[in-house]
Amino acid sequence: MKVITSLPELRAARKTLPGTVGFVPTMGYLHAGHISLANAAKTGCTSVVASIFVNPTQFGANEDLVKYPRDLPRDLGMLEAAGVALVWTPSPEDMYPSGFQTWVDVQGLTMRLEGEIRPGHFRGVATVVAKLFNAVGPDRAYFGQKDAQQAAVIRRMTTDLDFPIEIVVCPTVRESDGLAMSSRNIYLNQDERNAATILFRALSAAETAYQGGERNAESLRRIIHELIATEPLARLQYVSCADYLTLEELVTVRDRVLLSIAAHLGKTRLIDNIVIWDQADKKRDGI
Ligand code: PAJ
Repeated sequence: MKVITSLPELRAARKTLPGTVGFVPTMGYLHAGHISLANAAKTGCTSVVASIFVNPTQFGANEDLVKYPRDLPRDLGMLEAAGVALVWTPSPEDMYPSGFQTWVDVQGLTMRLEGEIRPGHFRGVATVVAKLFNAVGPDRAYFGQKDAQQAAVIRRMTTDLDFPIEIVVCPTVRESDGLAMSSRNIYLNQDERNAATILFRALSAAETAYQGGERNAESLRRIIHELIATEPLARLQYVSCADYLTLEELVTVRDRVLLSIAAHLGKTRLIDNIVIWDQADKKRDGI
């Protein structure tokens, strides 16, 4: 596995890669969720490129940029074991040269949910991913369903800017008690870590109601609200029951629905989501 920091080196190494290239962009401090993307890329492509870059422009002024967890040697070991051919670890100065003033701003989709609460976040994400795409030139790029809105924004950007890249979205990898894996879980103390399972339990309860025939979006949101309210350490920030593709809030649920939540456990902000759809529809559509 080659580890590369500069853009010219990356371009040169990219040219030597055989066959199709799968790309896994990350901010490091890797866990099994990230590695599942590398595995999917390995299965779907001849060569795999990963990037590790804690992107300053997607963090708000009061967010955790400075204390964002980092462990490059461990990350590199995990990527090597996953069969990654090339890892790019650019510096902030290389990604954002002095005088930088070009941004990729996906509109509409970024107005709600995470975008509403974290202004500028998706501008930072879309800009850095566009730059990473330009540099790596992959055939396919792999993202996690864990960040559902991010995946939707990247899909939109890829279509709108004509990147010849297939976006592959992989399922959320969870701990055995259901908590979605996240680099930020490290911030939780033991009590908060135990309490954090309420996120997935609440989403699952709403899914059970849906599979039992509940089609009223507000009722599904209420189930989540009420369950999270039973956990004193959790403070719900939003609950959304939205169309999977447009992220528009629903009144009545049909087709594929994204149920998503953001909550604070102490000072740590966590997000989670599930996609639900009617099993009967699924059979009818032959999915
Ligand atoms: P990061 O949070 O490091 O996540 C990198 C990728 O791993 C994203 O596509 C994310 O959705 C996916 N991922 C995280 N947790 C996961 C889980 N439990 N199961 C499956 N996939 C998971 O997302 C970013 O970095 C950045 O915004 C980035 C796209 C790299 C741009 O800076």
